[in-house]
Amino acid sequence: MFKRPVFNNTLLNWYQANKRELPWRETSDPFKIWLSEVMLQQTQVITVIPYFKKFITKYENLDALADADEQALLKDWEGLGYYNRIRNFQHAVKEVQEKYDSKVPDRPEEFFKLKGVGPYIGGAVQSIAFNNQLAAVDGNVLRVMSRLNRDGRDMTKASVQKDVKHFIEKDMPLEAGDFNQALMELGATICTPRTPKCVICPVKEHCEALKANEVMQYPLKKKQKAKQEYYYNVYFILNDKDEILLIKQEDDLLKGMYELPRFDVDTSLESIEEKYDLPLSQPGAPIGDHKHVFTHKIWYMEGYIVYTANEHENFIPLKDVKTLPMSVAMQKMINLINTAPDSEL
Ligand code: ADE
Repeated sequence: MFKRPVFNNTLLNWYQANKRELPWRETSDPFKIWLSEVMLQQTQVITVIPYFKKFITKYENLDALADADEQALLKDWEGLGYYNRIRNFQHAVKEVQEKYDSKVPDRPEEFFKLKGVGPYIGGAVQSIAFNNQLAAVDGNVLRVMSRLNRDGRDMTKASVQKDVKHFIEKDMPLEAGDFNQALMELGATICTPRTPKCVICPVKEHCEALKANEVMQYPLKKKQKAKQEYYYNVYFILNDKDEILLIKQEDDLLKGMYELPRFDVDTSLESIEEKYDLPLSQPGAPIGDHKHVFTHKIWYMEGYIVYTANEHENFIPLKDVKTLPMSVAMQKMINLINTAPDSEL
């Protein structure tokens, strides 16, 4: 077991000297710190930077985001994925606006009650914005801790994560926010998954896995489950008014996002006609395809153009399609009919 006070000081000193300049490290505004952590929870730093800059320019304070149109927010979030993050965030900031006079609560027991605030976001925001002594345990931190302690437990288990959190909080330095970010920074830049730079690691003297020459054995790797594969036909249903049928998702995770009609490959044209109450022309050959790899699944999609002469409330003018929030998977399909430089779409 390593000596915590020495470890804490060494890590904090290293962080002060080596931390990356990141836009959310230039602010002490709890709203902006919270926004950054919501973005960073499931997305890499390099991807988050331009989104964070756009959001703090467009929604410069908590009230601006609370009062924003949800569809505009989803559109601005487009490409970051996990769209329930931004819906939950807006829900939470609205609550802060109403209950706490637009001031992000600095009491953990209040903050943790807000929508979308779990142990990670709660710990990260409360420590970085208010120096409350809570840990923020993400994938980087779990990898670092498993190596430091040569801890062979399954780091994906909630009970183990809770234990790691308590271990960090037991001797948490007063600079809790910097300490959490230092652990994350170490994981992101030195203690990386495949090519850890142990030679230049500031805390290598404390690392049990390194002492045993077993760094690459930690964290314990569980066999990756094969991703589920799904095969879909995606329909571009067009009418004679330059309009296309788009479906607004009601599904919990993608709520508010727009999609082209998407059906299992063995769905008959008749059942699609019935579903939308639209007569459809026979589809020709597929106009293209796209394979989209998500975290736990893969979609194989083929696009077909069909025409209809009837009306339907979900028809959208082709020229407006790009203004609507859409998942990246669907944008890739939309681009199949968007290859001409001055195409209407
Ligand atoms: N990942 C999650 N939170 C982070 C932060 N505050 N800085 C850098 N990377 C992070």
